[in-house]
Amino acid sequence: MSPGEFTFLCDFLMKRSGLVLNEGKRYLVESRLVTVTQRFEIKNVAELVRELTAGRNDALATAVVEEMTTNETSFFRDAAPFEELRQTLLPKMLESRRPRHVLRIWSAAASTGQEVYSIVMTLLENIPDIRSWRIEIIATDIAEKILERARSGIYSQLEVQRGMPPHLLARYFDTHPQGFQVKADLRRMVSFQQLNLLDSFLRLGSFDIVFCRNVLIYFDALAKADILNRIAKQLVPDGYLILGAAETVLGLTTTFDRDPKCKSPVYVHASMRPSVPKPKSDIAARLDSRGT
Ligand SMILES: C[S@@+](CC[C@H](N)C(=O)[O-])C[C@H]1O[C@@H](n2cnc3c(N)ncnc32)[C@H](O)[C@@H]1O
Repeated sequence: MSPGEFTFLCDFLMKRSGLVLNEGKRYLVESRLVTVTQRFEIKNVAELVRELTAGRNDALATAVVEEMTTNETSFFRDAAPFEELRQTLLPKMLESRRPRHVLRIWSAAASTGQEVYSIVMTLLENIPDIRSWRIEIIATDIAEKILERARSGIYSQLEVQRGMPPHLLARYFDTHPQGFQVKADLRRMVSFQQLNLLDSFLRLGSFDIVFCRNVLIYFDALAKADILNRIAKQLVPDGYLILGAAETVLGLTTTFDRDPKCKSPVYVHASMRPSVPKPKSDIAARLDSRGT
């Protein structure tokens, strides 16, 4: 791949998906594009670049973006956020939402679905009267191909071995020729939708809890800040945002504060910060000291 072709592809991916690539990723780009060129019967990267430049082949553009996404995920990834959900977030939410019995949760970069099914299992295990609640769970990802897998809920033996506690596997999965399949009633609890986080997500409505984990790391600061600020607008005032272990809002936005009670990166609206008592004026302090 020539330097010009690599620069074109970096620019194309940045505009389309927010993905930031540097020179060190040249080999990765080249090797991942082999599948795309083969599938679309394209001779080489030069021809691929010509096709993308012409802008006539939307399926090709989508395939290039999908091929370049990193879909690494696992059940109960990092454990702590799901513990936080169980121990702190859910009890608070269930208490404050008892009058309406509605809870809305968004997994914003769902990949193959392990994250959102981990959320579903946590809810089922910890909300005793779950049937009396209207629980809306939306899982989105830029890659439709990946979402297809998530919707199917089919996982290999190896995938369930990564993080799935055996008692939950027994309770919430059926055996399947390829390994295991999430039971149909759990799959029905999730609405999987294709969504590019660079685009507007206003149509999804507002949320009580947003999981946006291990996706911001791929974007530049501007895109990260923009996404965080737009999530803030759709997170209810007492809602929670959960980021990945290597992600932060620091230096990007002041709309969120880290919840000091949580070990993992759980954020609340900065406007919910308890107000710091203002220092007393000189006159008030003097009156205090005189005991008046
Ligand atoms: C590493 S996975 C994270 C999965 C899961 N959240 C977790 O933490 O285990 C990142 C996901 O982000 C998706 N993604 C990348 N760019 C995106 C974008 N611009 N909009 C929405 N999703 C995107 C990828 O397709 C991929 O499935």
